[in-house]
Amino acid sequence: MNEVLRNIRTRRSVRQFTQQVISQEAVEQIVEAAIYAPSAMNRQSWHFTVVHNREKIQQLAKVIGEIIGREGYDFYQPDMLILVAADRTNHNGEVDTGCAMENIMLAAHSLGIGSVWINQARGICDEPAMRAMLTELGMAETHLVWGIAALGYAAVEPVERPRAEGTVNYII
Ligand SMILES: Cc1cc2nc3c(=O)[nH]c(=O)nc-3n(C[C@H](O)[C@H](O)[C@H](O)COP(=O)(O)O)c2cc1C
Repeated sequence: MNEVLRNIRTRRSVRQFTQQVISQEAVEQIVEAAIYAPSAMNRQSWHFTVVHNREKIQQLAKVIGEIIGREGYDFYQPDMLILVAADRTNHNGEVDTGCAMENIMLAAHSLGIGSVWINQARGICDEPAMRAMLTELGMAETHLVWGIAALGYAAVEPVERPRAEGTVNYII
């Protein structure tokens, strides 16, 4: 198995993180992987908000927790978040950002950094408290967050989730 395939095969969602801080060099490599994802018609309407500040992460978690009714919500206490948003007029925004999310998670894994997809921002970006927080983080009102990558060093070895059977047909 080559390096890329092994990286894909061994990535697992990480939901417990250490206090270790991700280096700026690694952050930039992860972001570069994100922006090199494919996008429909090469529109690249996405916007990435890197939140590498635990206080801001907590503030965002509090806002989301209040909206979704989950007290103590904390994104699993990661070192960093990347909010992956797309222009709301882009009908492929969800898919484009999905490609970028996967690149983020695979790039992180290749650097020994764990990640998990956070879905809790979907559908709430125009709630006033959420929009105010996104504005504070520098995101334009034109953009909706489709996914958040929570990133950090794994505190425990993540469990491998078995893959469903019968999901492939080979027509030869
Ligand atoms: C669209 C999407 C949304 C997800 N949302 C969450 C989430 O909100 N919280 C979470 O802990 N994991 C979330 N996950 C991670 C999945 O639960 C995880 O990928 C799945 O259980 C398979 O495990 P693996 O990533 O270790 O292979 C999400 C994954 C995807 C693709």
